[in-house]
Amino acid sequence: MKATIKTERLGADAAGVARAAELLRAGDLVSFPTETVYGLGGDATNDHAVARIYEAKGRPSFNPLIVHLPSIDAVEEYAVLDGAARDLAMAFWPGPLTLVLPLKPGSGLSHLVSAGLPTVAIRVPEHPLARRLLEETARPIAAPSANPSGRISPSTSEHVIDGLGGRIEAVLDGGACAVGLESTIVGMAPQPVLLRPGGLPIEALEVAIAGPLARHQEGESITAPGQLLSHYAPNAPMRLNAESVAEGERLLGFGPVEATLNLSPSGDLVEAAANLFAMLHQLDHDGDDPIAVSPIPDHGLGRAINDRLRRAAAPRD
Ligand code: TXA
Ligand code: MG
Repeated sequence: MKATIKTERLGADAAGVARAAELLRAGDLVSFPTETVYGLGGDATNDHAVARIYEAKGRPSFNPLIVHLPSIDAVEEYAVLDGAARDLAMAFWPGPLTLVLPLKPGSGLSHLVSAGLPTVAIRVPEHPLARRLLEETARPIAAPSANPSGRISPSTSEHVIDGLGGRIEAVLDGGACAVGLESTIVGMAPQPVLLRPGGLPIEALEVAIAGPLARHQEGESITAPGQLLSHYAPNAPMRLNAESVAEGERLLGFGPVEATLNLSPSGDLVEAAANLFAMLHQLDHDGDDPIAVSPIPDHGLGRAINDRLRRAAAPRD
């Protein structure tokens, strides 16, 4: 884990954008303004950068992240955009709308971005500084709101520094966010369904789809989208906190153990998080023999790793 870092404050000019893009391309974390709230950005194709996003936020679980792109054309490299989803994209992008779309095979996005799911949340933001940064970085940028887990979303760079100063490499300062509320999230089931109300009014969406938007009943609490998901689990049975390996088992190791695959031989939780989904997919792909998993320390990113492993190991139908 990195010691406290000095968080650079970058101005909203060509030099600031160039520095932010350079840091992002190197796998560092940069908070940037969008019209909704400030995002905590990292290269969405870089497992280690994405793991550090979760670490910086102190998230107790791997909720999937939103991938930010500069244009609809760029979106089509990573996700399937057709039917009603395409109509919504044409109507509201760039803007405060996030669409959950089928992931394209071979997209190159880190498995950690989508928390191992076959879908990915994508947004084309409208903020000019965000757009310049995305174009100059020329990578898909994963970004949750730039607040520590459990705190409110930041709408100024001061909020970002208050919450994440010392934990990220830089903040690109674009002043206050115009909307100040997160994007509206719409999933495709396959027709549009509201997953999170936000900065784009539901009425506008209903005009675009010429009818009511499927959503929760009145009075029912809105579940966080991440909780609605059936979480990724391999086919093979899994046994956690395995101190030793039984005959016929494969070991997903952590620390200095001999293993089929090792999340982090040196016991580094950021490295382990970065490898988690890719290794679960690999084990799933390679066979059905039961999977034993080494104990993972339950602090820092280890809490999120254990949360996800418990879901993956839970009894299923
Ligand atoms: O305005 C916003 O949306 C801001 C800016 C930075 O873009 N971002 C933001 O991200 O609010 P975050 O991580 O705080 O919220 C993203 C939500 C999470 O609740 C997550 O569960 C949901 O999006 N989500 C992401 N990928 C998903 C997927 N594949 N399926 C369902 N929900 C997903
Ligand atoms: Mg948030």
